[in-house]
Amino acid sequence: MPEAAALPRAVGLLGGGVIGGGWAARFMLNGVDVALFDPDPEAERKVREMLDLGREALSSLVLAPLPPEGRLTVVRSPQEAAEGADFVQESAPERLDVKRSLLAAADTAAAPSTVIASSTSGLLPTRLAEGLARPERFCVGHPFNPVYLLPLVEVVGGAATSPETISRAAATYEAVGMHPLPLRHEIDGFVADRLLEALWREALWLVADGVATVAEVDDAIRYGAGLRWAAMGTFLTYRIAGGEAGMRHFMAQFGPALQWPWSKLTDVPELTDELVERMAEQSDQQAGGQSLRELEQVRDRCLVAVLQGLRSQAYGAGTTVAAYERRLLSRTHALAADPDGVAIAQDGTTSGVPLVVHRTRIPAAWIDYNGHVHESRYLQMFGDATDALLHRLGVDSTYLDSGHSFYTVETRLGFRRALTAGDVVEVRLQVLGADEKRIHAWLELVCGGEVAATAEHLYLHVDTTSQKAVPALPAVAGRVRTLAESHAGMGWPAGAGRAIADRTPWYRERAAT
Ligand SMILES: NC(=O)c1ccc[n+]([C@@H]2O[C@H](COP(=O)([O-])OP(=O)(O)OC[C@H]3O[C@@H](n4cnc5c(N)ncnc54)[C@H](O)[C@@H]3O)[C@@H](O)[C@H]2O)c1
Repeated sequence: MPEAAALPRAVGLLGGGVIGGGWAARFMLNGVDVALFDPDPEAERKVREMLDLGREALSSLVLAPLPPEGRLTVVRSPQEAAEGADFVQESAPERLDVKRSLLAAADTAAAPSTVIASSTSGLLPTRLAEGLARPERFCVGHPFNPVYLLPLVEVVGGAATSPETISRAAATYEAVGMHPLPLRHEIDGFVADRLLEALWREALWLVADGVATVAEVDDAIRYGAGLRWAAMGTFLTYRIAGGEAGMRHFMAQFGPALQWPWSKLTDVPELTDELVERMAEQSDQQAGGQSLRELEQVRDRCLVAVLQGLRSQAYGAGTTVAAYERRLLSRTHALAADPDGVAIAQDGTTSGVPLVVHRTRIPAAWIDYNGHVHESRYLQMFGDATDALLHRLGVDSTYLDSGHSFYTVETRLGFRRALTAGDVVEVRLQVLGADEKRIHAWLELVCGGEVAATAEHLYLHVDTTSQKAVPALPAVAGRVRTLAESHAGMGWPAGAGRAIADRTPWYRERAAT
């Protein structure tokens, strides 16, 4: 499904608690309007707090500008939430009767083409869909908390769900940066919660038997296997543990141990008041006085760090983040196209003034210990501007797939004015010169009419297979020429072409001799 078609314009959310609030943040931060139905009078406040958390987390995760946020409207009935929605997500309490009545209300009000999904952790979609007039457009979309940050969403169809519903739900989730995992069969607990429940049962036994405290159980996960799981999951981890002979050797070595067995997998400890109290006390101790919000922020920052680490390795959930960034960039380029009528037109005409290539709002997460934007973020904004320029020149995914791109081979930044959270900035770009392989560009980051920073870049056109400089392909080369010609009459910007050496007497005394 094409990207634009998969991204809903408006969604209806039924339930705005931990999960519904997370969905609201995920959709709104992707520019989608949300109509929320939740009988709790505090729901809007809670959702807005979740949105604040999500904004901070998502804007520090991705190296691409997020689109302008969607709007939140709180409505009075599930019908109102579903009317006019391109997609409906139900996240009410885990009770069959509550969910069925909400889904039926949405089913009567939503347009026939709207997909309706439930966040249920374990109720089977066939049972949830009973009584719906259009059960074929219903499926489960089971996410993970925090929904605005964790990519996984299990997509599960019931007996009546159409394959088209599964693929449309998956495309919608993908469009907002998630990793949909369609399941082959509906099954109690789906896949992920089955695994989690096995671990949870075992963890309860360890605490109930007094073998470990809740903090010790958590340490046993987060200092060891938990770190591996983020990258490798279970099967790949054990394949590697099997050495050169892989899984066969691993099974021969550790398979027999399954008969002993170490675990109490099928048994559940009795959840006596004493056990629940012990776990709650230990859990309070473990939290060390941190509030829920503080714990959520720590969790989110650590998740961002893990996801960014995985992205740097182009591995696991890191590939979802990278694909999401590419999607955000192409959306930004589409949105920003011709903001001032100064884009490079198809017929080659330009107006001979700097191109406004990028606009963004400074997120709070970019502020450093000085209370200003950290210097690395300036390069990020100039980098986003470069991407936007190249996209306009025709360096799109087809061009990149053909094995060609421009690399930035030299950069000089100049800082003139501090920026802070909430500032709205734009990057204006002037081509100082270009030939078949090179573009020399001057960029100004402008805030409130004042230049806050400058960048001078040299881009080199390369064959990405041989990593050698080669002439740009004709269509792109033509646009580069047109743009360079239209900027040729503009004055040379103050500061362009200079180096730190120009300002330092010691250069003339030492390096130049
Ligand atoms: N918490 C998790 O980690 C998690 C993860 C994945 C899926 N889920 C599933 O998501 C769903 C919601 O769970 P949660 O953790 O967000 O619960 P929650 O208790 O935090 O939120 C439920 C929300 O639904 C609202 N609500 C109650 N009755 C309603 C009604 N008739 N119509 C609309 N809203 C109503 C409540 O006011 C509340 O805001 C459940 O089905 C759960 O299984 C939860």
